[in-house]
Amino acid sequence: MAASHSHLAQDVVTSRREGPVSIVTINYPPVNALGVEVRRGLMAALDAADQDTEVRAVLLLGAGRHFIAGADIREFGQPPQAPLLPDVCNRIEASAKPVVVAVQGAALGGGLEVVLAAHYRLALLGAKFALPEVTLGLLPGAGGTQRAPRLMGVEAALNLMLDGKPIGARQAQTLGLVDRLDDGTDPVQAGLDYARELLASGAPVRPTRDRRIPVADMPAASQALDAARALLNKKYRGLFSPARIVDAVQAVLDRPFDEGLRLEREYFLQCLDTPQRRALVHAFFAEREAAKVPEAGRAQPRALNRVGIVGGGTMGAGIAVAMLDAGLPVVMVERDETSLERGRANVAKVYDSLVKRGRMVVAERDRRLGLWSGATDYQALADADLVVEAVFEDMAVKSAVFAELDRVCKPGAVLASNTSYLDINQLAKTISRPQDVIGLHFFSPANVMKLLEIVVPEQVADDVVATSFALARRLKKIAVRAGVCDGFIGNRILAVYRQAAEYLLADGASPYQIDQAVRRFGFPMGPFQVTDLAGGDISWAARKRRAATRDPALRYVPIADRLCERGWFGQKTGRGWYLYPEGSRAGQEDPEVLAIVAEERLKMGAASRSFTEEDIMRHYMAAMINEAANVVHQGIALRPLDVDVAMLYGYGFPRHRGGPLHYADEIGLDAVLADIRAFAAEDPHFWKPSPLLVELVERGGHFKDLNQPAQG
Ligand code: 3HC
Ligand code: NAI
Repeated sequence: MAASHSHLAQDVVTSRREGPVSIVTINYPPVNALGVEVRRGLMAALDAADQDTEVRAVLLLGAGRHFIAGADIREFGQPPQAPLLPDVCNRIEASAKPVVVAVQGAALGGGLEVVLAAHYRLALLGAKFALPEVTLGLLPGAGGTQRAPRLMGVEAALNLMLDGKPIGARQAQTLGLVDRLDDGTDPVQAGLDYARELLASGAPVRPTRDRRIPVADMPAASQALDAARALLNKKYRGLFSPARIVDAVQAVLDRPFDEGLRLEREYFLQCLDTPQRRALVHAFFAEREAAKVPEAGRAQPRALNRVGIVGGGTMGAGIAVAMLDAGLPVVMVERDETSLERGRANVAKVYDSLVKRGRMVVAERDRRLGLWSGATDYQALADADLVVEAVFEDMAVKSAVFAELDRVCKPGAVLASNTSYLDINQLAKTISRPQDVIGLHFFSPANVMKLLEIVVPEQVADDVVATSFALARRLKKIAVRAGVCDGFIGNRILAVYRQAAEYLLADGASPYQIDQAVRRFGFPMGPFQVTDLAGGDISWAARKRRAATRDPALRYVPIADRLCERGWFGQKTGRGWYLYPEGSRAGQEDPEVLAIVAEERLKMGAASRSFTEEDIMRHYMAAMINEAANVVHQGIALRPLDVDVAMLYGYGFPRHRGGPLHYADEIGLDAVLADIRAFAAEDPHFWKPSPLLVELVERGGHFKDLNQPAQG
């Protein structure tokens, strides 16, 4: 992108005449975003077309794979530069000669608003249309809120704006967004043919602003607005821009077009100025930057056509499904026939459930399962280009598996471990080819969860890292590079803020109060709900395993142990922190749990006090931010943005807050440090300010200063 900013206006928008048609092409790689040069170029091209008496129609095109991917997101937060996009769209609509667009690839956001402002709209079959502004904390700000309802009706337009998801060309035509489909591959030819046809039939300019919502459609439109308002406190709870979208669309029914545009502009500027918009734009760029790691810049990925998986349990099966879904053939190795059969059944179960819910046809399930094969003999992995080990979390078991892989795998095969906590440096050293060993830490369920931590051991070869990032892209996962340590990026930070939740519990907050505070902050679930979902036995086993090595100076809160001793492991046993009567998944508060908590508090001699929701979140977030800072300080994460992306995609951190370190910058690092120091007065062993946080506060810096592109 940086290079493309140096384009001059005359490069990025070109005009040429083909008979009576002026062909105006936007050529602003990589995605024809509507940066200031493009906007200037479009204004100039339209003026020139209106003045040229030879020209009778304008054909507007985007060069490359996409039509236009929207406003230039990099300009948000900068001083606006004329001409503004709404003015460009108005200029298109006001053209004295018919303006035709021919869309290939994506027409998103401002790109779709250009389409809406044109007089005639053609799409190739592969075109996609979306108004994704809401995903950036915005609303369509170049006439989209006023023009889309006029073309598609209020309900469909609201859906497009509130969902932010793309629709295909056929659906766009059905909804009235597109006039004409073309099954060819050349937008220039298709657009020219259409423009000539329009000229031959004497088609006039056709401004969208002149359309009215038919009186007969008014009741349905009002209903759609009411339905959308009802969603604001549920699906869009806590978000700013969806309410503004509904208000802007309301104006289509109540106000003249120009007044609607004025309101839209006012709301757009309000949204632009919110922390939510900053957080969401940060998330957009952070997830793309996270894939840019030095190793991938230095080396090409190895060929990847066949995958092996060792272990067919929860993770092995989920990883297998992720691979099969991406069209990669999988060989699964298990320790015996019974376990292998269970592994196969675990994979089949996922597809069967999709078929049962009508989300997949039988033939497709069979095609994907056809790419799966199983074996109990490691020899079956001899052809694999990459093997993922997902056996028990036990160093002895894992090194025995790696010894087998070392023996049978072909030279150059990537040997990956899905370990959650174990030392991959040590694992790599046990075999003859440590350069091929890497951590691929999937999250459960592995075929659903977007995050993939790519754990980079000391001796790994650059092209193994590059291969792993290429794999993530193929699996449509968001990859984050992590260094080796106990828990890598995500689980390491989780352990610390989870501990903070235990301390809040011990000191007087109820588990239900903590969960509610965390949910209101924007997480889908609170920490105690998460434990009930994952199974309290798993963390209990981990606590017992670590008991011997636990720092005796750290406070230990045994409340969770008391629940586990009663066999209360959560959803799967019908009770845990919550009650789950008759297999229900929505938990109910349990007075017996509160009684146990009270009793244990007494035994611990902890002085019980009351916490407000704000107190709870200050503790929870300070713990998370502090450990996140340590993870960056120690080089486990390359940059603060890598931590943010891991927490967004693996741990339910609310996207509209951008991740813990973006959030820390927003609320002020001095405030975070002051909290940690205040909490340390009571518990100095747990609350130790991260050296990086202290350093940033001392020099008045921000985490975002450390987000420069990684060196290639
Ligand atoms: N502005 C600036 N840069 C953009 C951009 C945009 N609208 N869209 C994409 N880019 C950049 C990306 O950051 C990336 O840069 P990099 O190579 O330096 O990392 C590059 O273009 C390629 O993008 P992707 O890696 O995402 O490429 P894909 O081919 O996977 O996807 C895409 C292409 C579907 C267009 C996807 O980039 C996308 O969804 N873009 C965002 C679209 C969007 O949200 N538009 C709405 C903007 S808001 C708006 O229009 C306001 C208006 O109403 C006033
Ligand atoms: P699991 O117990 O469900 O599955 C392990 C499987 O490995 C079993 O099917 C077992 O038969 C098989 N196995 C054991 N020894 C074997 C051997 N020598 N050869 C072949 N197969 C063997 O365990 P789960 O949950 O799938 O975990 C696997 C790994 O993934 C662990 O390292 C775990 O830490 C990690 N992990 C687990 C996550 C989770 O949420 N469950 C999340 C991320 C990582």
